[in-house]
Amino acid sequence: MNDFYLNYPTDILIKNQTHHILSNSNSLEFHSSLDCYNESPLFSLDFLSKELNISKLYIKDESKRFGLNAFKVLGASYAVCKILKKNPKISIFCAATDGNHGKAVAWSAKKYNKESVIYVPKETTKLRIKAIEFYGADVHQLDLNYEETCAYASKKSIEMNWQLIQDTSWENYEEVPALIMSGYLTHFLEIEKTLCDDDSSGFDIVFLQSGVGSWAASYIWYCLNRFGKNRPKIVLVEPFESCGVFQSFTEDKRISPLGSLDTIMAGLNCGIPSKSAWEIIKNGCDAVITISDEDVKLSMRTLYSPKENDPKIISGESGAAGLAGLIKTINSKSLQDLRAHINLSESSKILVFNTEGDTDKNSFQGIVKS
Ligand SMILES: Cc1ncc(COP(=O)(O)O)c(C=O)c1O
Repeated sequence: MNDFYLNYPTDILIKNQTHHILSNSNSLEFHSSLDCYNESPLFSLDFLSKELNISKLYIKDESKRFGLNAFKVLGASYAVCKILKKNPKISIFCAATDGNHGKAVAWSAKKYNKESVIYVPKETTKLRIKAIEFYGADVHQLDLNYEETCAYASKKSIEMNWQLIQDTSWENYEEVPALIMSGYLTHFLEIEKTLCDDDSSGFDIVFLQSGVGSWAASYIWYCLNRFGKNRPKIVLVEPFESCGVFQSFTEDKRISPLGSLDTIMAGLNCGIPSKSAWEIIKNGCDAVITISDEDVKLSMRTLYSPKENDPKIISGESGAAGLAGLIKTINSKSLQDLRAHINLSESSKILVFNTEGDTDKNSFQGIVKS
């Protein structure tokens, strides 16, 4: 199997329900009204950019967001608040998760004195389960993979009259995922304050790690809507063993990943891409690259042990995947078509996101110290 796919996007935004919800987002206003709000830092990795022979490398560090160590809470907190405004009587929220999203739903439900029931797939580690339980959730581990766990959570929510807060969409389930995507807009807007001017983002290429693709789609939507033709090139990064977006591109239709689903990148080990995310990704992403667990371990160690004045960054297995995609794109001889396609050169200014910290501390220590 090839490890990259080149797309030729139309850059068209489809004016559907998701577009409408994203257009009406007031996520930054909402998040900054929470007392625990702090803007996440945007670092410039000057030494690493020199090593990679590019002009600038920025990293938006989400490892401390709301004390939850991952960006996901931006989505869940916004969706829970909006859904409760519509229906304050909801008493139980439900979600399927491989870790970060479930913790975010439990945290958000607790804020409003509501309960949460969270389903996790068979491979979720004990530490990740404990982290969700810490926020009062009733957590059930199922002998299923992520995609099957989502279907189970959906069925249970209908049966029990719980409110499902799922971060991926399917036919007739698009409103909540769109609200979650609207919540993600906060950290893109935070970057605007520092880097961009009126019609340019301030960088040329961005590498975004993808699970079901909702987060990447939210960024793509934001770029098309905000910068139009001046948007940066966008490359999605997926684990080789679970690359639903890559395989959907090669099959030219949305399909479940065909790989082993055996990867340390738990947050990216998802099933079929989100329906509404896929519609946006198809139209606005320039390329997809797949990476291995070894690629991401190297990226985690690079961020953990910086050289010269670069900051030390705690980046978990899924958090470091965007940088891993960039390092692979620059260092692999066989990727010259990809480099040309995204105009990667010595003058490139590049943005990546650290989307999580050490969300499984044992695994993290084992990787960065080895
Ligand atoms: C740390 C981390 N990064 C990235 C992602 C990818 O987000 P999405 O599933 O919306 O593609 C996830 C998803 O859970 C995640 O936990």
